[in-house]
Amino acid sequence: MGLSYKMRLILVCISIIVMAGIGFLFKNLLTPDSFGVYGYYRADAIKEAVEVPIRHGTNDSCFKCHAFEAKIHKAGLHKTISCEFCHGTYADHVTDGKKTGTLPVKTGDQITSLCLRCHNTEIKARSEKVIKTVAIPDHLRDQHVKLTHNCSQCHNVHAPLKYINRAKQITGLMEKG
Ligand code: HEC
Ligand code: HEC
Ligand code: HEC
Ligand code: HEC
Repeated sequence: MGLSYKMRLILVCISIIVMAGIGFLFKNLLTPDSFGVYGYYRADAIKEAVEVPIRHGTNDSCFKCHAFEAKIHKAGLHKTISCEFCHGTYADHVTDGKKTGTLPVKTGDQITSLCLRCHNTEIKARSEKVIKTVAIPDHLRDQHVKLTHNCSQCHNVHAPLKYINRAKQITGLMEKG
């Protein structure tokens, strides 16, 4: 085509302007209303985040109703561990200050799996200085018990060394016998 150099330049300019116009149009259509009210983000996002129902409590929120476990837990080496890590979520159990649901309570082999999520020597991510780990079945062999023993038969789940001397006495007796 025999368009002049000037004409081509004008066409290019017009298409740039049209594209930019379409761009701005879409930007305005797609930008949420509250964007930029406080800064470079959607102001409504704050409101929405505040409205998300709280699912978790603190250990203090459990202590109110579970004085027995509270006393043992606070005095033991598990005092820094969240009740909810082992039992599940506050919101599944309590609504408006009343018990409304049942939390899972692990038994038998499930307890061993739970303990080993933190105390397994195979987990190399944390140093022994931070958390003591054991190798299974070696730990049970060292205590001279059958490999079917689960952790809670010697360790109180809420305060793991609370009755350990008693456990040692018993396994010690077994060793001699
Ligand atoms: C390391 C995991 C762990 C932590 C942390 C933990 N628990 Fe437990 N809890 C258990 C296991 C496992 C049992 C089952 C008891 C058993 O067989 O010895 C249990 C039992 C219970 C029971 C009795 C349930 C029943 O009806 O048999 C209550 C109540 C309870 N825990 C509350 C708490 C509270 C409150 C906290 C926090 C202060 C807490 N637990 C922290 C693992 C844990
Ligand atoms: C408003 C009181 C209340 C609060 C708060 C509360 N519980 Fe309970 N919970 C109960 C009652 C009542 C029972 C049934 C009787 C019992 O086992 O003591 C129960 C039972 C349990 C049981 C046994 C299984 C079950 O659901 O019946 C576990 C485990 C438990 N609670 C853990 C917790 C944990 C963990 C927290 C904190 C996140 C907590 N509870 C907070 C009142 C409460
Ligand atoms: C959420 C991670 C976690 C879970 C699950 C857990 N523990 Fe612990 N445990 C810890 C931490 C953290 C400590 C304190 C640091 C330490 O002493 O290793 C601890 C301490 C201990 C100790 C004392 C170690 C020492 O001599 O200092 C024993 C024993 C123990 N736990 C056994 C258990 C048993 C048994 C279970 C299962 C019922 C269990 N733990 C579940 C995190 C956990
Ligand atoms: C037959 C009893 C018995 C059983 C079952 C048992 N333990 Fe132990 N555990 C002990 C005794 C006793 C000690 C203390 C050893 C010592 O200091 O002399 C101990 C110490 C520990 C320690 C601290 C180790 C350290 O380096 O100081 C951890 C962690 C532990 N046990 C976790 C577990 C876990 C997890 C299970 C379940 C897989 C378990 N234990 C099962 C008796 C037992």
